Amino acid sequence: MLHQYDRRARSQRARRYARRSYAPAHAGGLLRTIPARVRIFSGIQPTGRKHLGNYLGAIRQYVEGQDRGDPAIYCIVDLHATSVAYDPRALPDYVYDTTAMLLAAGLEPERCVLFRQSDVREHTELCWLLSAVAAYGDLTRMHQFKDKSERDRELVRTSLFLYPVLMVADVLAYRAHEVPVGEDQRQHVELMRDIALRFNATFGETLVVPEHRIPALGARIMDLQQPDRKMSTTASEQRGLVYIDDEQRAIHKKLKSAVTDSGSEVRRAPDKPGVSNLIDVLAAVRGAAPETIEEEFAGGGYGAFKTAVGEEVAELLRPVRERYAELRPDEAALEQALAAGAQRARAIASHTLADVRTAMGIGPRASSLH
Ligand code: TYM
Repeated sequence: MLHQYDRRARSQRARRYARRSYAPAHAGGLLRTIPARVRIFSGIQPTGRKHLGNYLGAIRQYVEGQDRGDPAIYCIVDLHATSVAYDPRALPDYVYDTTAMLLAAGLEPERCVLFRQSDVREHTELCWLLSAVAAYGDLTRMHQFKDKSERDRELVRTSLFLYPVLMVADVLAYRAHEVPVGEDQRQHVELMRDIALRFNATFGETLVVPEHRIPALGARIMDLQQPDRKMSTTASEQRGLVYIDDEQRAIHKKLKSAVTDSGSEVRRAPDKPGVSNLIDVLAAVRGAAPETIEEEFAGGGYGAFKTAVGEEVAELLRPVRERYAELRPDEAALEQALAAGAQRARAIASHTLADVRTAMGIGPRASSLH
């Protein structure tokens, strides 16, 4: 059993972490809550070329988070990539592709912590420790597990089942307050909260309960050819995806041939998933309300609208593609950036792990070490 003193110190520490996230302040005579600098964490898979959904739903938020994060921590999750069939020889390259893409999009290693998951072993240790408070039943209900396990009939890996617990460990290892993600990760972030709460209730206040940050616009970009499914690298047709590093011409063409619905009105409606998606895309690109897009293109027909969306998407991604081409060849520089990030990440995660181990009674009794 832990000493009463240790328990108290730990719960004071946990309260301190929680308090740091939001500081009330008086402004103009009104008591308002201003977000203080919060700790931000998010992860992205290295496999699969990054697409417009990743960019609008997540990567743009990572860049913005650098100014608010204390720190903002971004992880390329190579261990997650092993939960489905993959090519081990290509995996290191994919990590460099993703690193270069994130840097090209605006991440700066001096303003955030950018690292490769497998370089910080605390993630896997914490995954095991947290599995002691992860309910089996909850894991069976994860949408992504259900989808992916149905797709891969040949071998449903245990790592696919445990995947959400590793995600939980990724975030809780840093006592992050905020998790910027697209809509498809909502359920996983809810699991993080449940597991953090259960851990604290079982072993004493140790972990921060994080919150998702799902953007109001662009959180669920749909496939251009099958607008009833989200844009994803597992799509059946390449034409349905805009890759971040697509050439301008390819982007224009993909948007020109995007599936639209019967009729010709540019407005959102449940029976118009194709046009609704394009309106959402343009709204997210501009940071404008979808209604203003509907008004602007009212009566103009689908053709002119699709051309406009193509041009604006291509223009948004052009600087990222150009910078990516400059950064990608220098693997030594990419490796150096990742290694420096891992060192900073480890410094934070090792503290949390020490507290989690003590809370769970793993390792020597704290008092025997003196
Ligand atoms: P991943 O690599 O599939 O996706 C990276 C981010 O892109 C978002 N995203 C989308 N947003 C809008 N529309 C889309 N069509 C779209 N497709 C993808 C995702 O929501 C995600 O934010 N399991 C995670 C990686 C991960 C993670 C974490 C995330 C591992 N550990 C800890 C947050 C915190 C994944 O596979 O994302």
